[in-house]
Amino acid sequence: MQHWQQPSYEPYLPVTEKSNPITRDIDRANPEEIVQMLQKCDAEIFERTSHGNPMYQTLCSSSVVQTIVEVSKRVEVILKDPEDSLIVLSGCGTSGRIAFLLATSLNRWLASHHQKQIYSYIIAGGDKALLTSQESPEDDPFLGALTLDKACVGKKHVLFIGISCGLSAPFVAGQLDFCLRNLKIITPVLIGFNPVDMARTEPIQNCSFHFKEIAERMNELQKQKKAYVLNPAVGPEAISGSSRMKGGSATKVILETILLAGHEAACNNKAITFNGILHSLNKFEKVHQITYSHTKELAALVEKAAVSLRRKGHVYYLGWQTLGIIGIIDASECIPTFGAGFEDIRGFVSNGFSEMNNKEGDLSSLGPHFIIDHKDFVHTILPNLSDNDTVIFLYSENDDLNEVSALAKSVRQHTSNLHAIAHELTGLSDPDRMRSQFMAVLTIKWPSSLHKYNPVLMKQHCELSTKWCLNAISTGAHVLTGKVYMNYMIDLRVTNSKLYRRAIHILKRFTGSTQAYCETALLRAIYGIEELSDGMSSTNVTQHTLVANERGSVVPIALVMLQSRGTIAEAKSYLDAYSVIRDAVAACQRLL
Ligand code: F6P
Repeated sequence: MQHWQQPSYEPYLPVTEKSNPITRDIDRANPEEIVQMLQKCDAEIFERTSHGNPMYQTLCSSSVVQTIVEVSKRVEVILKDPEDSLIVLSGCGTSGRIAFLLATSLNRWLASHHQKQIYSYIIAGGDKALLTSQESPEDDPFLGALTLDKACVGKKHVLFIGISCGLSAPFVAGQLDFCLRNLKIITPVLIGFNPVDMARTEPIQNCSFHFKEIAERMNELQKQKKAYVLNPAVGPEAISGSSRMKGGSATKVILETILLAGHEAACNNKAITFNGILHSLNKFEKVHQITYSHTKELAALVEKAAVSLRRKGHVYYLGWQTLGIIGIIDASECIPTFGAGFEDIRGFVSNGFSEMNNKEGDLSSLGPHFIIDHKDFVHTILPNLSDNDTVIFLYSENDDLNEVSALAKSVRQHTSNLHAIAHELTGLSDPDRMRSQFMAVLTIKWPSSLHKYNPVLMKQHCELSTKWCLNAISTGAHVLTGKVYMNYMIDLRVTNSKLYRRAIHILKRFTGSTQAYCETALLRAIYGIEELSDGMSSTNVTQHTLVANERGSVVPIALVMLQSRGTIAEAKSYLDAYSVIRDAVAACQRLL
């Protein structure tokens, strides 16, 4: 049995919020060890057995595979009769970004085959949330339901797939509740990575239900094939609670398996079978093995990125097609995850918003966070690029390699610190010519047996592989610059109710103080006052998170206050003296 599966291991936390024993000392690890730890954590996605623990199902458990079969058949039905039908993929944060990526990619594929585009995506906070973190809409069940209601207007058959890795987001709970009230038209599917028993029970403001009630009702309805819950346990995240990593990857694996099986059944008459689904999941496991067989090269990129961040330089991902979008997503997630500056790690994609193909179109007028085209990189960043910056190209053999070479040549005039992650599919390109353009190229060679020249599958594999590489680079670089304590991101932004609860847990974990004491310290840090008024303590969590959104470092301040029993001003001056979280925590522990 995995250590985290034991009933006594962090018993009050759901799997997705537990800390992963594999990465307990990630903050002391060197780049190669970091990549090895991430490899092991990601391998848990494909764990075959729950080691006799009835509490957990795994991705390959027969009940999970069977549910994937059932949902794939729903996709097949819709694809065969697309008139007045819709498949909606929805989620918050990374879950919504994965929904967007799949919906737009598959719509593009359908359009290129002169078929009706039947996919739609919803992300809490709208398209802005594709590139920046918009965490408060995650708490709004009514907004979720309203957005779904609008998407379904005029439709007679809707397959709704709501993703909440933690079985926790009120936005998704509101949507699922809406589905349950409209089962004649909508079949709801819930994807997440906790057993239903561990779904969130915290009351949702102005709502008669919480997430667990919805998940339980769906579980019941699954017996009549009216709703489906897909919730294998894939183990805790490498950085506690950071569902952009395993949660996002596992969501991608499950959704792509479902949707591809549905497409192959509808378009090629390939029957959807239990073994076929298992085979498809095994292929994704192979993608994991192939990607992480490059540990040394990946570790070298982690090191380069860390050096750049330490020198106050930058990391730039320049990608083509969806690999560029994967880069933009990874970069934008560093801001809320590690409290990174927006300039620290940035992503750009060839052809910018026309490649994104998002519902709200070109968002570049919204400000610098939305400047994503290679052309913008060339105009605004390239002139000031130096060896302190790390540039990583992301491309596959299917991209316009002349364009890749031309941009590489321009970048080389400013820095030699230029690298690439390249996917070689048939070996038909001229790898030596390409290799000579970069300081190093991490070449991932895909055996044709894996995707049998199926372009959709090939693309999905390259995307997932790139996601794993970039998650490792950005996480590893931030770990090496001291942003993480053990495997906790302490300096988290407390911008919604889930993050508020996580913050209190972290304070309890590191100080041993009571829940009430930790919450008071957090509120003092949020409101910046020593004595809380009665009104403040009794205000709802939403109000606290709105104020917290405007403040920095509230959790570290609360932590130091709890440890040192000092004032807010003392805690702040303490933290100013340390840039490395572990040092600050260790030093304030010495105060006791
Ligand atoms: O609240 C922020 C966040 O934790 C993101 O990091 C994450 O992608 C999002 O919530 C969604 O979480 P979940 O998929 O568990 O609903």
